[in-house]
Amino acid sequence: MMQMKLARRMSELKASEVREILKVTERPEVISFAGGLPAPELFPVDEIKKVIELVLDEAGPRALQYAITEGNPPLRKWVAERLNRQYGLSLDIDNVLLTSGSQQCLDLAGKLFLDEGDLVLCESPTYLAAISAFRAYGCRFLEIETDDDGMVPESLERALKENDRARLIYAIPDFQNPSGRTWSLSRRKALAELAGRYQVAVVEDNPYGELRFEGEHLPAVKSFDKDGCVLYCGTFSKIFCPGYRIAWVAGEADIINKFVMAKQATDIQCNTLAQMSLAKYVEMYDIDAHIERIRAVYKKRRDLLLQTMDECFPQSVRFTRPQGGLFTWVELPEGLNARDLLVECLKLDVAFVPGGAFFPVEPRENTLRMNFSNMPEERIIEGVTRMATKLPGRARAQL
Ligand SMILES: Cc1ncc(COP(=O)(O)O)c(C=O)c1O
Repeated sequence: MMQMKLARRMSELKASEVREILKVTERPEVISFAGGLPAPELFPVDEIKKVIELVLDEAGPRALQYAITEGNPPLRKWVAERLNRQYGLSLDIDNVLLTSGSQQCLDLAGKLFLDEGDLVLCESPTYLAAISAFRAYGCRFLEIETDDDGMVPESLERALKENDRARLIYAIPDFQNPSGRTWSLSRRKALAELAGRYQVAVVEDNPYGELRFEGEHLPAVKSFDKDGCVLYCGTFSKIFCPGYRIAWVAGEADIINKFVMAKQATDIQCNTLAQMSLAKYVEMYDIDAHIERIRAVYKKRRDLLLQTMDECFPQSVRFTRPQGGLFTWVELPEGLNARDLLVECLKLDVAFVPGGAFFPVEPRENTLRMNFSNMPEERIIEGVTRMATKLPGRARAQL
């Protein structure tokens, strides 16, 4: 056992539950609804081969050299213009910083805004890895009451009024991880308004917004941000491929500049070749057509997952019906523990993530998250059918 003294913050860090479960799911026979992996068969491997070769032909050593912290200018311009089109914003390149995944943006936001003992206001439940990123800065969390339409504004306002240490509001308004829920228009407006009134930063984390299967495209919280409090995070992980580790944060130029300083101290810049080849990819290929293909596959998988759960799960088990994204959220009857269910399901080679870890303050152990993007269709049906045998009560279809 090592004798070296670790920093206090390390005592706050636990091995990610998802990562631990994923180790088990590496066995090929396991049907995994755990993790949040995109479907690898949709990665544009041939196109990436071409763009990397082109970039190396055209730019040569420049593609392998250090580059500016802010990120590749053509790619930042592309991001700014896309957000302007999608959300009626007026960003230019100084409003955009490229980060190593949105995960780095969460870490940088912690670095910028959180002193020890400060408070992060988040949805209940919220994204597990955001909890870990913020927790490393010694913050506390307050779970804001959250329903199917997002954070309840009265609950958020009360928290802001009563806590002068509130420094960050963290929200995932589209097809939330883990719940699959989407915030209503009025809740988005209310969040932007409250953040402005109380002058508290919002991290609007939106990795899934482009993966809408149905229903109306909604404006971002950033669209209503009159006071410059909202930082909008997007990523290429789910619309291109996660291994590239390229994402972005968009906001007011002065605050983006602080993010740039923080990133500089962390890793100087994102990988130059990755940035340049991605810039070439969006120039040469139709990423919207690519996203459309991803959407079609995930919609089919979501439909199958929900349909099979409808048929096989007992009436007492409830689940969300996400309009996009990668996840649905399951609530077992009170008193049942999803960790126990996981132990049983692993005996049948089926995995999911117990929901408790997604609540930073008050775990609800009768919940769990199911991912539907990563398993082929026949395995989705088989996995849900096996899970159902471990759930108490009669299947809906038999009632
Ligand atoms: C809500 C949320 N934020 C951030 C991330 C991290 O994404 P990235 O691959 O861009 O770091 C994920 C990935 O699953 C996510 O679900």
